[in-house]
Amino acid sequence: MRLAACHNFHDFRALARRRLPGPIFDYIDGAADDEVSYRRNTASFEQCDLVPNVLRGVARVDTSVVVMGQKLALPFYCSPTAVQRLFHYQGEHAVAAAAAKFGTLFGVSSLGTVDLETLRRAHPGTPQVYQFYFHKDRGLNRAMLERAKAAGVEVMMLTVDSITGGNRERDVRTGFSIPFRLNLAGLAQFVAKPRWAWNYLTHERFSLPQLDQHVPMDGGAMSISRYFTELLDPAMAWDDVAEMVRLWSGQFCLKGIMSVADAKRAVEIGCTGIVVSNHGGRQLDGSRAAFDQLAEIVDAVGDQIDVIMDGGIQRGTHVLKALSLGAKAVGIGRYYLYPLAAAGQAGVEHALGLLRTEIERDMKLMGVTSIAQLTRDNLRFR
Ligand code: LAC
Repeated sequence: MRLAACHNFHDFRALARRRLPGPIFDYIDGAADDEVSYRRNTASFEQCDLVPNVLRGVARVDTSVVVMGQKLALPFYCSPTAVQRLFHYQGEHAVAAAAAKFGTLFGVSSLGTVDLETLRRAHPGTPQVYQFYFHKDRGLNRAMLERAKAAGVEVMMLTVDSITGGNRERDVRTGFSIPFRLNLAGLAQFVAKPRWAWNYLTHERFSLPQLDQHVPMDGGAMSISRYFTELLDPAMAWDDVAEMVRLWSGQFCLKGIMSVADAKRAVEIGCTGIVVSNHGGRQLDGSRAAFDQLAEIVDAVGDQIDVIMDGGIQRGTHVLKALSLGAKAVGIGRYYLYPLAAAGQAGVEHALGLLRTEIERDMKLMGVTSIAQLTRDNLRFR
């Protein structure tokens, strides 16, 4: 199968599976415990049906939105995700370039493999989110915040659902770690994917430039779960975040809010956005799907803060359903990571193009010409 034969999420996933060493594919594809929330994330969209209107004159549709002070040409953005150069040697360069081409926002992770300044300079007109992990080392937190501010990052996005590592059993079995230390089964997988191995070995050495001045990541391989558990601060509480919001004094978003009480708290401390999310099902298994939880959060705080959601988006209709419920925009994760793994920048561009086309087509079929026209009148729950 080639890139041109990829028409949807499932095709990209299949191609990524063929090209990636098993442990890396499983890191992207896996989730916590029994992966119930992961499956539920996409299934939840199917509990809800669209009710179209017709004969509305839809020759031109406008897919743009304004979210967290940023004007985006599309109602979806590339969520920050970790270690992208492990999936394809172009890594964050590819994702940022594709996002820039499509006029949307991209995220850079604390666990990113390209430094945030390089990306900020490379795509000056494209808004950039910095995904922040709150470390036990408060000096590190301050340095990371100041660095992102100096780089000109538009939106700070603090992840609040990873106070300890999720139980990702696929990673436990494969021994997935950063940088690599492979068990024997994993090693065989690498030998079986010579193209990936060649690209990995002949391009820029793996590093974590957001962290490596502060955290001795070269001292030995570490699982993602151990990184969360040992280096991130489980004592992080609302006062710490309120201080961060003050220090940042700009667009500040909390990623991983699921309860109305927390959404209200985010408003109180001056956040400008929240992402309703269960971290792709990778943290608390059994956690409700973001789409299921969206309406009550929008009802509680939607007029005071930008409510965004992520989790399970595979289709343009999923995006329209979330926007109809009141989300200002949606984040995609695996949706662009499989294409990245499958074909680098060309893969991500192909995937973003397909989702844009689906959204334009679905808006026309729904009888709307702007995102603002999508409302709950368009939806019925089973
Ligand atoms: C993950 C973290 C790193 O889900 O966001 O793997």
